[in-house]
Amino acid sequence: MLSVQENQRRLRKVVASMSRPPLYSFYLLFCFFSLLSGIQSDDLQIIMKLKSILLQTSNTSAFDSWESSNSMCNFIGITCNSQGSVTKIKLSHQNLTVVLPFDFICQLQSLEKLSLGFNNLHSPIMDDLKNCVKLQYLNLSNNLFTGWSVPAEISSLSQLQYLYLDGSGLSQTFPWKSLQNMTGLVQLYLGNNPFPFPKEVLQLTNLTWLDLCNCSIHGRIPAEIGNLKELIYLGLWGNNMTGKIPVEIGNLVNLKKLSLSHNSFIGKLPVGLRNLTKLEVFHFSMNNLEGNLSELRFLNNLVSLRLCENELSGQVPAEFGEFKKLAILSLCYNSFTGPLPRNLGSSAKLYIVNLSMNFFTGQIPPYMCKQGT
Ligand SMILES: *[C@@H]1O[C@H](CO)[C@@H](O)[C@H](O)[C@H]1NC(C)=O
Ligand SMILES: *[C@@H]1O[C@H](CO)[C@@H](O)[C@H](O)[C@H]1NC(C)=O
Ligand SMILES: *[C@@H]1O[C@H](CO)[C@@H](O)[C@H](O)[C@H]1NC(C)=O
Ligand SMILES: *[C@@H]1O[C@H](CO)[C@@H](O)[C@H](O)[C@H]1NC(C)=O
Ligand SMILES: *[C@@H]1O[C@H](CO)[C@@H](O)[C@H](O)[C@H]1NC(C)=O
Ligand SMILES: *[C@@H]1O[C@H](CO)[C@@H](O)[C@H](O)[C@H]1NC(C)=O
Ligand SMILES: *[C@@H]1O[C@H](CO)[C@@H](O)[C@H](O)[C@H]1NC(C)=O
Ligand SMILES: *[C@@H]1O[C@H](CO)[C@@H](O)[C@H](O)[C@H]1NC(C)=O
Ligand SMILES: *[C@@H]1O[C@H](CO)[C@@H](O)[C@H](O)[C@H]1NC(C)=O
Repeated sequence: MLSVQENQRRLRKVVASMSRPPLYSFYLLFCFFSLLSGIQSDDLQIIMKLKSILLQTSNTSAFDSWESSNSMCNFIGITCNSQGSVTKIKLSHQNLTVVLPFDFICQLQSLEKLSLGFNNLHSPIMDDLKNCVKLQYLNLSNNLFTGWSVPAEISSLSQLQYLYLDGSGLSQTFPWKSLQNMTGLVQLYLGNNPFPFPKEVLQLTNLTWLDLCNCSIHGRIPAEIGNLKELIYLGLWGNNMTGKIPVEIGNLVNLKKLSLSHNSFIGKLPVGLRNLTKLEVFHFSMNNLEGNLSELRFLNNLVSLRLCENELSGQVPAEFGEFKKLAILSLCYNSFTGPLPRNLGSSAKLYIVNLSMNFFTGQIPPYMCKQGT
């Protein structure tokens, strides 16, 4: 949207140009009126309508700057492109308590980024969302949605790269099939929602972040997880997952963070885990894992290793003493035996160490507590 001053400036220019040859004036006049009646003024109408809808039910100061005396592109929370069309709306943490009017929002032809996390948005997510076809970023996390209007179909959002719907009350009516058309997704957060394991996700080979934590997912990790070779983060903690960890997890060589705590996984740490040498965070507490830690000997970038409350046994590998970044080592409530590596903590700054409730023997390594509190 052009500012008032800018409009006046252009108007003066148009008037001044009246003395020029007629064709040129008509051209300028045409530009002037198409600027007034074009996308920008449509966007302003939509934005003002949006404000009035959101204000009806929300007690918020979010729209204090959304006044016609300001240029729309200067409204707090609004970003425009060089043509003056709205490209981004950011209204997270604004106490919005409404049924989200996607029918209006999606009329903004250039909208690429929509951020509405941490509000009290409720009711189902309406089918109109499918008209926001230019969206690359959608963050509706931490709201109170009751699911999706049925049938919900958002395959048209094929430009999406970042989709954050964690903790938003979404249930099984999620339009999973639509994910198949979002092949460019890079980050997908669906945690803290009650979902089944979505098989459609396994084809999104550009994903780098996949968060499905605390989603009441049952059953096994599908072997096809190994397709997602770009993954840096895989979060599945707090589900009700069972079975063995598939060996295919060893294909995810870019993983830095693997969080599988609070499930019912069984069996040994799979052969091939040793190849995940970029791993920094490996959280596997509260499962039913057995066997020893020999697969972890090569993971010398580990910063945080949490394996409490499993049925793991054997000795702590001597290599752990050489891990330079290790800060958290939590092995409590297992059946580990033997002496701890003598150089544990000699080259790292350990600050959380919990080795309680095991069968360790021998002395406490001399360096282990040097940084401790
Ligand atoms: C609106 O919020 C303000 C502070 O944020 C509070 O003082 C006021 O009572 C609220 N009004 C209503 C109607 O809840
Ligand atoms: C949201 O509500 C809280 C508590 O009432 C208040 O402190 C805060 O200023 C409100 N935020 C906005 C953007 O209105
Ligand atoms: C989504 O938006 C909220 C609110 O701004 C923010 O706290 C959160 O980090 C965002 N999610 C992601 C994954 O960036
Ligand atoms: C899937 O995305 C493509 C563009 O990548 C689009 O042309 C097509 O219409 C979308 N499919 C559906 C069912 O919306
Ligand atoms: C996946 O990422 C690559 C590299 O960033 C990109 O060239 C490709 O187009 C992406 N695939 C899809 C389906 O968007
Ligand atoms: C898990 O998700 C439920 C909603 O499904 C939520 O109430 C709970 O706080 C979440 N737990 C954690 C630890 O985030
Ligand atoms: C986990 O699944 C088992 C059956 O597979 C069920 O008995 C149990 O209640 C589930 N627990 C949770 C927390 O959902
Ligand atoms: C580990 O990676 C190496 C080199 O890429 C490969 O040859 C080997 O088969 C992998 N090991 C396992 C157990 O997957
Ligand atoms: C650890 O477990 C593996 C696989 O079960 C076994 O081959 C290996 O001998 C064990 N290592 C030690 C030191 O016990």
